[in-house]
Amino acid sequence: MAKKLRLGIIGGGGDSLIGVLHRIASFMNDNYQITGAVFNPDYKLNIDFAQEIDIPTNRIYKDFDTFIESEMKLDEEERIQVVSVLTPNFLHFPMAKKLLENGFHIICEKPMTTTLQEAEILKEIAQTKNTIFAVTYTYTGYPMVRQLKSMIADRKLGKIQKVDIQYYQGWINPVLHDEEVRKTVWRLDPEKGGNSCCIGDIGTHAFNMLEYVSGLKVDKLISDLNFVYDSNKMDVDGSVLVRMDNGAKGIIRTSQIATGEENNFEVKIYGEQGALKWRQEQPNELIYLTEDAPKQVLTPGHSYNSSFSLNGSKLPPGHPEGIFDAMANIYLGVAKAIRKEEIQSGEFPDLMDGYRGMLFIERTLESNKLDNSWVKL
Ligand SMILES: NC(=O)c1ccc[n+]([C@@H]2O[C@H](COP(=O)([O-])OP(=O)(O)OC[C@H]3O[C@@H](n4cnc5c(N)ncnc54)[C@H](O)[C@@H]3O)[C@@H](O)[C@H]2O)c1
Repeated sequence: MAKKLRLGIIGGGGDSLIGVLHRIASFMNDNYQITGAVFNPDYKLNIDFAQEIDIPTNRIYKDFDTFIESEMKLDEEERIQVVSVLTPNFLHFPMAKKLLENGFHIICEKPMTTTLQEAEILKEIAQTKNTIFAVTYTYTGYPMVRQLKSMIADRKLGKIQKVDIQYYQGWINPVLHDEEVRKTVWRLDPEKGGNSCCIGDIGTHAFNMLEYVSGLKVDKLISDLNFVYDSNKMDVDGSVLVRMDNGAKGIIRTSQIATGEENNFEVKIYGEQGALKWRQEQPNELIYLTEDAPKQVLTPGHSYNSSFSLNGSKLPPGHPEGIFDAMANIYLGVAKAIRKEEIQSGEFPDLMDGYRGMLFIERTLESNKLDNSWVKL
């Protein structure tokens, strides 16, 4: 009988944004049991939170090093198998490195590291290990994003000739104007967030989505980043022109100061024979445009969708799929890979996707620094 995988969680405490998404996603397809954790660097808060969500406290450790040390002393049959790293960005690399070295499977939040050099080190270590490394570009798990990917792979659009990805948020706008409040946000602190805020936090989602659905790679880019105030070290807005490896041109538009915007992530791919458009705020609708027929709105769960999309739907059509389902689909793919079951390409973003995400961040910063010049990826 298939047993649940023993899951460890680092970060993602009761005070976090992303913790609840991972906990629910891990639960949704009955594949994981949260067995141990360091939810919080404060031991009391850590234990209190475990009690609050009813997880036995015997494997709630005081810190990450104790987590590793104690788990490595246990028999393999008992030891945590896969660990989700949900901390602020600067901790991803040291934690993922140590987890890799000790043979754990890893589900790591994006951006995978804070520098490309760190990503290269993880890539090298991973080559010597036989473990699964997922990076949670959550939006790839939506059924209609998977349908978009399938339709492009099936050449429903013909040759892709224009790509346009927009990720607009407004939450940093009020934060940015008050220097004292700014200091309380780790995403605006290079020590904790890495060298970029907007491009690192949401540009990397947009870049990943572009390569994921199109099946193309970004060949080169030119960027123009916006810091708004001289005293603010981190980009909070930026536009990036991209040239894809098939010659198609396009744009990645990102902002965290787009006043009033919530999570307006929109993907538009135009081919010779048609176009597909998807919006995160209406994730159950995939818009299909052609020149000789009215606009079509495709929705999840119907037999006209690809098997890849249908595998990501749990209920019949008309039952909306949301962000929890998207993350759950990624966790499902990881569980299948750990169990060495057959998986389809794209069931979860992996270390190479995380690596390319870091490449995108570094090249975008480089282009901006070079007075907005074209830079090869
Ligand atoms: N995939 C997505 O769509 C998505 C969305 C939001 C955030 N994220 C990513 O998730 C990560 C966390 O973001 P967040 O918004 O939840 O941050 P957050 O600041 O809200 O939460 C961070 C959590 O990590 C804990 N933590 C900090 N240091 C720790 C340590 N040394 N040991 C154990 N726990 C520690 C904190 O107590 C807190 O619970 C970031 O890398 C972010 O980029 C991804």
